Amino acid sequence: MASQDAARQPAAPYRHLRVDQLTPTIGAEISGIDLGEPIPDAHLREIERAFAENLVLFFRDQHLSPRQQTDFGRRFGDLHHHPAAPFVEGHPELMIIAADENSSRANGEAWHSDVSCDAEPPMGSILQILECPPTGGDTLFANMYSAYDALSDRMKAHLDGLEAVHDGEHVYRGLYADLGVSDRPLYPRAHHPVVRTHPVTGRKALFVNSAFTTRIVGLPGAESDALLRYLFAHLIHPAFQCRFRWTPGSLAFWDNRCAQHHAIWDYWPARRYGHRVTIKGCKPIQGDL
Ligand code: SIN
Repeated sequence: MASQDAARQPAAPYRHLRVDQLTPTIGAEISGIDLGEPIPDAHLREIERAFAENLVLFFRDQHLSPRQQTDFGRRFGDLHHHPAAPFVEGHPELMIIAADENSSRANGEAWHSDVSCDAEPPMGSILQILECPPTGGDTLFANMYSAYDALSDRMKAHLDGLEAVHDGEHVYRGLYADLGVSDRPLYPRAHHPVVRTHPVTGRKALFVNSAFTTRIVGLPGAESDALLRYLFAHLIHPAFQCRFRWTPGSLAFWDNRCAQHHAIWDYWPARRYGHRVTIKGCKPIQGDL
């Protein structure tokens, strides 16, 4: 499958940042910036442009304190509080991402965009990994514009106007019980368009994922299951992906509106530990902006 994304050619050279693309389709490593220092507006504008062009940005050797990481997140919008996950003491916006020899699971071990069950799912997430296993613990990212573009015109027409249910209940209930987190009475559930229009780029992206999306509204159960099965297999084609190898103090900043990710738990019994801030988003829409 041809995957080169013509829209990823930089609109103009970068003046303040170095931007090295990981694959022709998604992901760029950014250097020439210390995210722990106040970020001048001109540099921030270039981060925003690189984010729109590349969908996920990687920064190495940052080693941000909780305060520095939340301050960086706030440059892009209000911060989101996770409906279930444990957080860093004194920093309710800083979700803990951790697995070690005592874990029976690890975060993000299925293709998803974060908390898509929210009525207004997060626009982006910024994860810093502070402790890495000796090998493994990589994260995969996939481009949902490319996944949409690669569909046939007939399939695009079929999906046009359809909505899907995104449910947090089966994902979150009991998930963090072993870490002492009590369940809420109800977890979020929302209907979203199967194809959403990105509010910044105006491009169409597939917006169903195998973690949260349970059915397509208005289709018989068997038809909905078959269509979702097809879309879940289609959207993780390797041609749409990049894979990031973490080092301590590296950060990934991904766009939940047009990318999905999958964290690989292949390092048990080793420990992997990090902090994630998540930035609030808006209600997904399909159609002209
Ligand atoms: C997640 O935020 O889904 C976890 C990602 C990761 O641990 O790499």
